[in-house]
Amino acid sequence: MCLEIALSPGINLFYGMNGQGKTNILESVEILSTTRSDRAFKEAELVNHNEESALVSGRFLKNSLDFDISVNYYKNRKKTCVKNGKNTTADSIFGSVNIVKFFPKDAEIITGAPANRRRYADMEISLTDRAYYTNYKNYIKLIESRNAVLKQMSELQERDFKYGELMDLIESYDELLPDAAYGVYRGRLDFLKEIALYADRTHRSISSNREKLDILYHCSVNENTDKSMNLTENLFKQRLIFLLKKNLKNDIIRKLTTVGPHKDDIEFLINGTPAKNFGSTGQIKTLAVSLKLAQIDYVFNKTGDYPVLLIDDMTSEFDAERLFNIIKSISADMQVLISSTDNEIFKTAFGGQGINYFKVSGGAVVNN
Ligand SMILES: Nc1ncnc2c1ncn2[C@@H]1O[C@H](COP(=O)(O)OP(=O)(O)OP(=O)(O)O)[C@@H](O)[C@H]1O
Ligand SMILES: [Mg+2]
Repeated sequence: MCLEIALSPGINLFYGMNGQGKTNILESVEILSTTRSDRAFKEAELVNHNEESALVSGRFLKNSLDFDISVNYYKNRKKTCVKNGKNTTADSIFGSVNIVKFFPKDAEIITGAPANRRRYADMEISLTDRAYYTNYKNYIKLIESRNAVLKQMSELQERDFKYGELMDLIESYDELLPDAAYGVYRGRLDFLKEIALYADRTHRSISSNREKLDILYHCSVNENTDKSMNLTENLFKQRLIFLLKKNLKNDIIRKLTTVGPHKDDIEFLINGTPAKNFGSTGQIKTLAVSLKLAQIDYVFNKTGDYPVLLIDDMTSEFDAERLFNIIKSISADMQVLISSTDNEIFKTAFGGQGINYFKVSGGAVVNN
């Protein structure tokens, strides 16, 4: 089955009943930007149960340059990527097109485990900052290698000859870790500082000035009781080296590196109170969408371009007034893809003006 869509500049609204393929369409654009889907746990899940492979292709125009991207997923092997007719790596496609997406699942950034929040920050920074992405991947690789060595050590006695050799390996990782870890720490701090500024402004305006938003970064390397106090580069590195040594015995028992940016967390406060524990459903949704709208300003500031905005299941998330406020706050220069089970609410709010409607049914666009 094949679906081809010509999108318009401005707002494209995909509407239709549940299970018809609306999210699939938005997900395709996500894949062309990041080469992965947040929804699928494994690549093979993206392939139709009755097929061997799935192909997503897109043609883009950016700064008057046009280019094509294709990503092919297979049941039994790794995905392949093509840019302008040439095979290439997923890494070289990643971020060619910038997106900002708001999916219902994004509330988990606030309510979910710390890994959700780290992933949010790392993905958003990486889309516009290649150096951060490279360093981040290097850091994760170092941690994974270190953890693998810790696991081997946990199965040996200290007097074993191999134990000493492995200890040398740990020391070599621990020499490399501080630089890589500081890059991740610094990158996240800078990102959150800028995002907090934009997101607070948006959150206040959606909540009619009733709610103030603050964002704190809790760093596992920090020895202050207030974990969100910023550390200088020297202090961060000294402290990390100290903790890696101090925790080593424990790390071997747990087969894990227990300190570093891969253990950090981000906290969102609404009027000074942690949103994760005390935020109402509506406050959490508003916070999640404020973060995503803030991302638009962030990307624009970094690249001089607006990202493509993807909003999934818009009407089930917000009432008409908030919906109107949100759409109103989106720049007319942006290309937006929205999915919704309802098109009437948009027709009422905008009098059918400035929105391109696509009705989705059975995996196809049936009219527009
Ligand atoms: N790997 C797969 N193979 C075949 N069908 C799949 C696969 N993955 C998902 N589907 C189906 O694709 C259909 C479209 O799903 P999609 O999530 O895009 O619907 P939707 O229009 O966004 O629905 P909703 O309004 O409920 O969010 C669903 O019926 C789903 O079961
Ligand atoms: Mg959907």
